[in-house]
Amino acid sequence: MQIFREKALLQREISRLKLNKNTIGFVPTMGALHQGHLSLVRQAAEVCDAVVVSIFINPTQFDNLKDLENYPRTLDSDIALLEDLHLDLLLFTPNAAELYGEEIQAMHFDFGGIEHEMEGKYRTGHFNGVGTVVKRLFEIVVPNKAFFGEKDFQQLQIIRKLNEKENLGVDVIGCPIDREDTGLARSSRNDRLSANLRKEAAFIYQILLKVKEKFGIENADEIKLWVENEFENHAELNLEYFEIADSKTLRSENNNDQKSTFRAFIAAYAGDVRLIDNIALNY
Ligand code: PAJ
Repeated sequence: MQIFREKALLQREISRLKLNKNTIGFVPTMGALHQGHLSLVRQAAEVCDAVVVSIFINPTQFDNLKDLENYPRTLDSDIALLEDLHLDLLLFTPNAAELYGEEIQAMHFDFGGIEHEMEGKYRTGHFNGVGTVVKRLFEIVVPNKAFFGEKDFQQLQIIRKLNEKENLGVDVIGCPIDREDTGLARSSRNDRLSANLRKEAAFIYQILLKVKEKFGIENADEIKLWVENEFENHAELNLEYFEIADSKTLRSENNNDQKSTFRAFIAAYAGDVRLIDNIALNY
């Protein structure tokens, strides 16, 4: 694996690969890598000749300075995990100046409304920060395909919109959610849970599976009430939101329109750790 801190050197290597007709896959991350991230890298390597992985903790997407300060910085073990894959990888680990220049500031985007739903309501400015850094990274790497996890389904749809609106010309590919044995969606935040809470947090996925069973039999309002009640009766987990939403518009819907595809979304706290998860309902 080659490691680049400077974009000019990375770009030189990518140009060389492209001259030899290699397709370039791209997996942007903020590090603290786990098997979920690695599943994206593997999928990219299956369909691309070379894969660029970026590790950059993007300051503009944090709505809370404490979260940014506490974000795990584990570059050495991240490199070891990537090396262990034995794939053709280029690792890009720029600093903030390399990506942003002098002013570390988010641009403002209109994503057609999806930025105001769910995560957008609870994390002010978050998607402007994500859009800014991903646009910049796409402009530097110019990948053929870029891979994002459905774990952050709203982010994936934001990136698709960004790509379309800004004419970035990347094939954006969504990858399935990688889960722990209990069903809990993998996340670097899971390491912050006590052993007991980590076990309890599998409840989130259990609820999503039951929602999938109920969908089409009960209406969305009934299901929502049921979910809220289940969380109220749970001693350890606190629900922040539950939504059944159209997978394209991300707007909450009550009508089970046959032509649309729907997903259920949960954000919940286990202690002070905020967890998100989602599931496809009718596709
Ligand atoms: P990060 O949280 O590091 O996640 C990087 C990528 O890994 C995202 O596309 C995310 O959806 C995916 N991912 C995380 N956990 C996953 C899991 N359990 N299964 C499948 N995919 C998973 O998301 C970001 O970083 C940043 O916002 C970024 C896009 C890099 C912009 O800064």
